[in-house]
Amino acid sequence: MKIKEENYKTIDLFSYCKKTGLSDLDSNYFIKNISNYDIKKQIRLIKRLKKEPLQYVLEKTNFYGYDYKVNKNVLIPRFETEELVENTIKYIKRHFNNKVKVLDLGTGSGCIGITIKKELPNIDITISDISSKALLVAKENSKQIDIKIVKGNLLDPFVNKKEKFNVIICNPPYIARTYKIDKMVKNNEPHLALYARENGLFYYNKILKDINKVLEDDFVIAFEIGSSQKDDIISIIEANLTNIKIEVKKDLQGRDRMIFIHNLTNNKKDV
Ligand SMILES: C[S@@+](CC[C@H](N)C(=O)[O-])C[C@H]1O[C@@H](n2cnc3c(N)ncnc32)[C@H](O)[C@@H]1O
Repeated sequence: MKIKEENYKTIDLFSYCKKTGLSDLDSNYFIKNISNYDIKKQIRLIKRLKKEPLQYVLEKTNFYGYDYKVNKNVLIPRFETEELVENTIKYIKRHFNNKVKVLDLGTGSGCIGITIKKELPNIDITISDISSKALLVAKENSKQIDIKIVKGNLLDPFVNKKEKFNVIICNPPYIARTYKIDKMVKNNEPHLALYARENGLFYYNKILKDINKVLEDDFVIAFEIGSSQKDDIISIIEANLTNIKIEVKKDLQGRDRMIFIHNLTNNKKDV
């Protein structure tokens, strides 16, 4: 990748991107996004693609049709999380009115909560995370959006304030420490957002133990889950909540990736 300065003008950026392992589509997207920079900066950014995901190099990503800032302090939002959001929005529209209170727990970039607020502007949304650095990103992403931002350890701040919600949506860290993950992910994305003790189940255990204290009578809980965790998580749910309906949903690739739990009153339909 050594280039002489006088050759900058003749550089084929596309082949440069391809050499870093990017697909044609991503290469074109990347080049379009850096087109305003001078050639030296363009080459500098392209070189980073060998070691970093393009979303971190561009400091932005797209989620549910909206652009969000991302950096190494937040997880890069994934496609399956868009499906979690889509199903939750459908459920809110069907079962709640504008008075619904929603909590996005472990918000990271803020993508889940901010997207729900953009899609359903009249509802009341709180986003929270334990990471101050992640919340700085979420704050930037939620500029000019009426959303509450809370820093704290899982449900503790809400249990302490006796605050309750109708909808709790959460994509917690759920990767077991022993699980081998892609090197690009492991070397770049925050481990606080990826890994969980207790074979990946720590956060489900901890959240579900406290969740009764922060739920309104009429509620839905929406969790993203690892594709092999369904049975373990259902056991944790059943040990902590009664009089509920549990629904597991598959992602577009046919893997069990979402769990919805709702109260049984009001003859609710499934998610
Ligand atoms: C898998 S990431 C999800 C980020 C974002 N919601 C998304 O779906 O792209 C999990 C998030 O949980 C946060 N987190 C980890 N431990 C936490 C804790 N004890 N309390 C609150 N948030 C926590 C991490 O900082 C991270 O932002």
